[in-house]
Amino acid sequence: MSVNGLAEEELRIRKIKEGTVIDHITAGHALSVLRILGMAGKDNVVSIAMNVSSHRLGKKDIVKVENRELSAEEVDKIALIAPKATINIIRNYVVVEKQQPKIPKIIRGIVKCDNIMCISNNKEPIQSTFFLEREDPLRLRCYYCNRIMDKTDILRQF
Ligand code: CTP
Ligand code: ZN
Repeated sequence: MSVNGLAEEELRIRKIKEGTVIDHITAGHALSVLRILGMAGKDNVVSIAMNVSSHRLGKKDIVKVENRELSAEEVDKIALIAPKATINIIRNYVVVEKQQPKIPKIIRGIVKCDNIMCISNNKEPIQSTFFLEREDPLRLRCYYCNRIMDKTDILRQF
């Protein structure tokens, strides 16, 4: 369907002038993406579309953050929640760059270890640290206590 040449999808949230469009987010996970970025409830102008139909994914979520470009670190954080996401950098209405997030081999200070006895939960200066054991299905291993964390465990924190 189109209205005045615009696809129905594009009418749902308008194009942004400057900022970042996080596209192809696993359906239903847009809010988790904002939370892992620490952008939920901040000053950023954010638009969200959930369960939009997509050729590639069937359904997807989209997040648009205005006047803000993400750092490489932020882009990679998104991979923990939405590994198929495309990060589009928008300048003066034009997509100037597309980035694919990649889960880092070592994940520090993002995910909390689910083991309450883990030293990373009990000693202030110790940052949580996980090794990426497997990408799909996602599996992280705590550097301190070897606790395995899967996708569901991680999503519960965001
Ligand atoms: N977008 C936007 N504002 C702009 C330009 C693009 O909000 N000024 C959004 C589009 O609506 C789309 C995403 O950014 O959700 C990527 O835009 P584009 O590359 O033009 O779309 P596609 O070619 O469909 O992207 P892909 O090939 O990555 O699926
Ligand atoms: Zn641990």
